[in-house]
Amino acid sequence: MRAARVTSLDGPSSVTVGEIEEPAAGPGDVLIDVHEAGVSFPDVLMSRGLYQLRPDLPFVPGAECSGVVRAVPEASAFRVGDRVAAFPVLGAFAEAVAVPEAMVFPLPDTVSFETGAALPMNYLTVQFALTRRGQLERGEVVLVHGAAGGIGTAAVQLARAMDARVIAVVSSEDKVETARAAGAHHVLLADGFLTAVKELTQGRGVDIVVDPVGGDRFTDSLRSLAPEGRLLVIGFTAGQIPEVRVNRLLLNNLSVVGVGWGAFWMPDPTYLRSQWDAILPLLESGALAPAVGTRHALDDVAVALAEIDERRALGKVTLTVRQ
Ligand SMILES: NC(=O)c1ccc[n+]([C@@H]2O[C@H](COP(=O)([O-])OP(=O)(O)OC[C@H]3O[C@@H](n4cnc5c(N)ncnc54)[C@H](OP(=O)(O)O)[C@@H]3O)[C@@H](O)[C@H]2O)c1
Repeated sequence: MRAARVTSLDGPSSVTVGEIEEPAAGPGDVLIDVHEAGVSFPDVLMSRGLYQLRPDLPFVPGAECSGVVRAVPEASAFRVGDRVAAFPVLGAFAEAVAVPEAMVFPLPDTVSFETGAALPMNYLTVQFALTRRGQLERGEVVLVHGAAGGIGTAAVQLARAMDARVIAVVSSEDKVETARAAGAHHVLLADGFLTAVKELTQGRGVDIVVDPVGGDRFTDSLRSLAPEGRLLVIGFTAGQIPEVRVNRLLLNNLSVVGVGWGAFWMPDPTYLRSQWDAILPLLESGALAPAVGTRHALDDVAVALAEIDERRALGKVTLTVRQ
């Protein structure tokens, strides 16, 4: 089969596509013919060996995909021919992938393959972040950094679907429309966002900050929180890991909350299906409709990874494996 491979840890440009052996499905694995795969920031980090997961070389990258079931394990809830989305963690940038059944999810006929590939990593992460970790309540105000990116557009959509008022923050004018189209009530530029947030909220601030970016805007994110506000730490695309002077937390009863989605579900992968079932009605109603930005051919995997690496991605980047 054709698959992308990381053979050296030299970043996106060194990820190549070629012929390799099909994966062997282990007991309990569903074998999937991949139609579309989702590309994420962690794939870029893995191409440089900078992610917490460091597989032996060579490896097939790709955490998530959608496709059609080719073979099922004994007593499976799936059938050959079912449309599915999946989160194999590795191996999705290929024509076929074997995935433990707990990480395979039914994809409704009304949901396209490109939408299905955009869902598992970002939507399940933000569902965990906003509900379990952030305790979001209806009517609260949520600020989302990196709001034109994969995690960002997912957070905007899910917060809005949960009846929050959503303020999106992006770094440049060309990203404003993506954040607005995802459903943000207001879109602000990162430069000077604190002043604008205070104006929009009549000085009160926001209840939750969703932060996949980190870096030097962290202190202003804390300053933008209302009393009892929660800052959800999701990632550090800016490169720098911020530090907190904890007196800031005490003064206004603030919380900085870690969001480690993988660390939470890995001891019990059945949690993933409960999350999928929670977002399914929102998908079917159209309340969640992932912002798929650029779709690339599998052969252009390096170009797709570079788009994320160079901060150019608008919405979710995907790879089309089968038309
Ligand atoms: N905690 C978890 O469980 C979990 C799960 C999944 C992903 N993540 C993390 O979440 C983060 C976002 O992932 P993603 O797939 O949504 O990435 P993405 O689509 O590339 O979006 C990330 C956003 O970060 C901003 N950014 C700031 N500085 C950047 C830089 N130097 N390079 C690239 N982007 C930069 C960009 O927004 P602006 O240009 O508007 O600032 C960009 O839109 C990553 O750190 C990823 O590892 C964490």
